[in-house]
Amino acid sequence: MRSFTYRRGETVICPSLLSADFSKLDQSIGQIKADTPILHLDIMDGHFVPNISFGPGIVSIVRTLTDQLLDVHLMVSDPARWIEPFYKAGADFLVIHLEATPHAERLLTDIRERGMRAGIALTPQTPVSMLDYLMDKLDLILLMTVNPGFGGQSYLPAMTEKIRVLRDRIDDSGRSILLQVDGGIDVRTAPIAAQAGADLLVAGSAVFGEDDPAAALEQLKMAARLGQDVTP
Ligand code: DX5
Ligand code: ZN
Repeated sequence: MRSFTYRRGETVICPSLLSADFSKLDQSIGQIKADTPILHLDIMDGHFVPNISFGPGIVSIVRTLTDQLLDVHLMVSDPARWIEPFYKAGADFLVIHLEATPHAERLLTDIRERGMRAGIALTPQTPVSMLDYLMDKLDLILLMTVNPGFGGQSYLPAMTEKIRVLRDRIDDSGRSILLQVDGGIDVRTAPIAAQAGADLLVAGSAVFGEDDPAAALEQLKMAARLGQDVTP
């Protein structure tokens, strides 16, 4: 397992490859790989979400282009069948949607048994109480702050309170579960999500949609730090 030590209070920006130029993947990844430890990969099947992105074949190519941890966000209807293919492709984090399976505990166990870190994603409408009996199986919780399926959507303001509630639940549990926020993160919303308690912020269009992704990443880091410095 690739090592990753998270220092509490230091928000990590995870660029989402979805918004990158796929005609020059090597170059796109090369622009940001030295500046952040995690790369976010959005897998969409055209069924769980109304869009199709890419699959394990592309992830295994990405694996050869960077030593970053690959954070694979599965937006698919049948996550059980994709655990092994994405393990083989080189995923470090494998994140399944709670809404996509009635057997989350079993899948999280399968993910961990292969040596990957296990995560659950929640769409905006799913209450955080759904995680109550899963906390000891989780390395990461991904809160969607847009409806999943597309990059470039606007952050849903009602999600800020959900981040706070989940932050408190994780802290009360005494576990070191990473809290990741995904959707509509830019220099305006990054400080809001960081202040509410996010550890990891996914950013697609705000990184790869900019002319200079490395500079955009730096600006997001600074913006998130502003949020961290604000005492709630
Ligand atoms: C949306 C994906 C996100 C997406 C974020 O369904 O899960 O990871 O890439 O894109 P932005 O940052 O543009 O909202
Ligand atoms: Zn995502």
